[in-house]
Amino acid sequence: MRDFAQMTSAWQNATHGHGWIAWLDEGGWERTLDTFSPMLPALAVEIAWEVRDPEISVRRLVQAVRKDPILAVNVVRLANSAFSASATTITSLDEAVVRVGTRAVRQLVMAAALTGRLRNPKTYGPNARQLVDHSVGTGYIASFLAEQLGADPDAAFLYGLLHDIGKFVILKLAWNDKPIPPTMGQVRLEACIESRHARVGARALELWRFAEEIRMPVAWHHDPAAAPSHQRSAALAYAANRLAHTYGLGCPADPADLLADPVVINLGLSTPVLARLEAHAPRLQQVAAALAA
Ligand SMILES: [Fe+2]
Ligand SMILES: [Fe+2]
Repeated sequence: MRDFAQMTSAWQNATHGHGWIAWLDEGGWERTLDTFSPMLPALAVEIAWEVRDPEISVRRLVQAVRKDPILAVNVVRLANSAFSASATTITSLDEAVVRVGTRAVRQLVMAAALTGRLRNPKTYGPNARQLVDHSVGTGYIASFLAEQLGADPDAAFLYGLLHDIGKFVILKLAWNDKPIPPTMGQVRLEACIESRHARVGARALELWRFAEEIRMPVAWHHDPAAAPSHQRSAALAYAANRLAHTYGLGCPADPADLLADPVVINLGLSTPVLARLEAHAPRLQQVAAALAA
């Protein structure tokens, strides 16, 4: 007699993955995602949580970063490259934080903490690394745009960084937690990710207790006009994502005339703002490289 697992898999094969997609749509996956730890290391989350405060002192920030030696090395490296034209080489973490500035260090820490495990191809598939690069790039672009447009750059960094977190959730489920039936295939999985990742990501963030100001832009980053609240943040997440695609951050470059896009026009993005972002782009690459080290 066949066991339950075999019967389930036979049923899934017969339904060509409909069962898997229904399970995803109906929230069956939520029970497998009850804590941060499966996707994010506990220490990293603790550090990321500590540095969320924009008013954090240099001393407290240094203490938090020091808990993770790899992170500490990366902050010093960053201070010696992307953020400094000075010839003096920095060796201490205190000096590095002062030179780089607390916001840059806080963003680096949050990006490192929240994406540290997501690069693992065994858990998230062969494109995990590019997807993380795309997420980090979008976080920095969103933060930059927010600064230019008078919005909150810290919130923008987080919703930019996390805008595609639903893709990681679905990939993890498909590769590990409840593998897709073979008959569903890669093409249907990709279509499923495209159509569901924004909603699944927002729901995962809710389970992880992220605030609505972060969840809403994530939920509506492909359709900001339909957002029931936080429409401007959703539009900003949309624009940051499109710009990350334009620059080819973690994906093939897709040159598009963003200034012809009504969402971008309504947001108030102009040629000078985009030119400033372009000048800023090499620094984004250096930050991404420091993170990947
Ligand atoms: Fe997306
Ligand atoms: Fe994206």
